[in-house]
Amino acid sequence: MTQAPNLVVAIDGPAASGKGTLARHLADLLTLRYLDTGSLYRATGLTVLKASGDPTNEADAVKAAENLDLSAFSAENLRSEEAGVAASHVAFIPSVRAVLLDFQRSIASNPGVAFKGAILDGRDIGTVVCPDADRKIFVEAALEVRIKRRLQELMERGEPVIEARVRADMTARDQRDRDRSVAPLKPADDAWVLDTSNMNADEALAAALDHIRGTGPL
Ligand code: CDP
Repeated sequence: MTQAPNLVVAIDGPAASGKGTLARHLADLLTLRYLDTGSLYRATGLTVLKASGDPTNEADAVKAAENLDLSAFSAENLRSEEAGVAASHVAFIPSVRAVLLDFQRSIASNPGVAFKGAILDGRDIGTVVCPDADRKIFVEAALEVRIKRRLQELMERGEPVIEARVRADMTARDQRDRDRSVAPLKPADDAWVLDTSNMNADEALAAALDHIRGTGPL
């Protein structure tokens, strides 16, 4: 019996660029298993904080990544600003990234029989985790637009919103993600760049679908 092709889609981009929403919608429409790789780093960061450890400390962060229990955290918890900042600290540590790599690759290569493939979103999916992905999309948006989106997201969840704080956190996180030596945030050479600064979620989805469908058979 010939095996059905396994479509792998890599979605990367900075905070609040719209990549998570886009990836979720694409997963539903194309019957792909979705992995939000940021949640792995967020859960690792929160695990360190819960144990009163330091997210910048290698031993604390590696221990948390090795014993990761995603079910220990609610979606609310994972999406908090505190989790995002802790995530970007543990994500800076190469040995933490190494621990989380196999799990991400296993989802990409074995998404499960119910799916036609997998879609992973993060910072280094097209460059490191799945360099052979069938489609690579790098989602960008202007900093001011991303700050507005994050403020909106936090307000909708009823989290306290201090614009200056969100701006400072996002700028610092962007810089840590782009400047780190291992797996920095950058488009893969063969990625298609989608700037969503002037698009709503539906428009971004339509553009991405056109791209995915236009560049080869699914
Ligand atoms: O949703 P948002 O873009 O704000 O964040 P996220 O995708 O959940 O990622 C949180 C943090 O985890 C990022 O700032 C990165 O530092 C780190 N991360 C990473 O280094 N590599 C990934 N593949 C995914 C996330």
